[in-house]
Amino acid sequence: MGKKIFSGVQPTGNLHLGNYLGAIKNFVELNNDQENDCIFCVVDLHAITVKQDPKELRNNIRETVATFIASGIDSKKSIIFNQSTVPAHSEAAWILSCIARIGWLNRMTQFKEKAGKDKEKASVGLYSYPVLMAADILLYDASHVPVGEDQKQHLEICRDIAQKFNNDFNVENFFHIPEPLIQKEFSRIMSLKDGTKKMSKSELSDLSRINLTDDKDTIINKIKKAKTDSLPLPSKIEELDKRPEAKNLLQIYSSLNNSNLKKTIETFQGKNFSELKENLSQILVEKIEPISVEIKKLLSEKEYLDKILLEGHKKANSIASNKVKKMHEIIGF
Ligand code: AMP
Ligand code: TRP
Repeated sequence: MGKKIFSGVQPTGNLHLGNYLGAIKNFVELNNDQENDCIFCVVDLHAITVKQDPKELRNNIRETVATFIASGIDSKKSIIFNQSTVPAHSEAAWILSCIARIGWLNRMTQFKEKAGKDKEKASVGLYSYPVLMAADILLYDASHVPVGEDQKQHLEICRDIAQKFNNDFNVENFFHIPEPLIQKEFSRIMSLKDGTKKMSKSELSDLSRINLTDDKDTIINKIKKAKTDSLPLPSKIEELDKRPEAKNLLQIYSSLNNSNLKKTIETFQGKNFSELKENLSQILVEKIEPISVEIKKLLSEKEYLDKILLEGHKKANSIASNKVKKMHEIIGF
């Protein structure tokens, strides 16, 4: 039987290779399976949990849609829409925030990381972020949610919220309990400058990531400058645990090559980083440059992108408003 897929990406700019290999590449494969129903959401309500410039946000929303399309998601087969255009998300998030427990939210590591040292100054939205994410997923009865490893904890709280709502109101199966879909080997792509840190949009150095809008020369240059260590490449997976940069570059190569880490290690064992980097640059240019070219082309076709969002809005709004209506009835409104 087909799966009901829901996932979201924040329109906060600089979509990078980590987003692509950890999430978007998987979206495309799920979209291509005729049996699946997929919904991909540009989660702008999540983006404003930290300060955003309105003009940049508007551009980033279109850029995220352009990235989905350029990567190979078919807007005729899958629903692509913008979270803030479907009021049910905010409404369901409020209701579910009365179901979620403070103790559950207090355990969220992403909040601790993003809020930094001065938690008192973080927005309330940043704290309740996982509740909105639960609303996103539960409104569409998603069966599977493809995300990177960093979102696993948010999926667990979503499951807890769904279960508690079903139990509290004695409505077994009202909310479907979703399963995370996390790729085993490639769920955490690391910074090119520090193999122990996640590749991230917010990292100051642009050399730490490959952006999906980077051109050929930029990609080659970033791989050339990527951090390495001084040893030849190892022959065993276990040796990689002590060599984060080698592990990351080999993983990126594997994923782009649709191979597995073990095979890639066999190919490069005993060789120098320079040989791996040369092959990696080649495959990155082959796979990422066409996406980058297509994103830029699509960004000049704003009306086309807005039309996709409008079509997506209509379909998503109809499903979500129906579900929220049922929530009202159950609660006693
Ligand atoms: P975000 O940009 O935080 O909205 O993330 C969008 C998707 O990309 C989520 O499914 C994340 O788990 C995934 N993702 C973000 N950064 C990475 C990374 N460095 N490695 C793997 N997946 C990532
Ligand atoms: N929190 C996710 C991230 O930062 C984005 C997101 C919001 C999401 N709502 C979602 C992902 C629903 C999957 C399903 O990556």
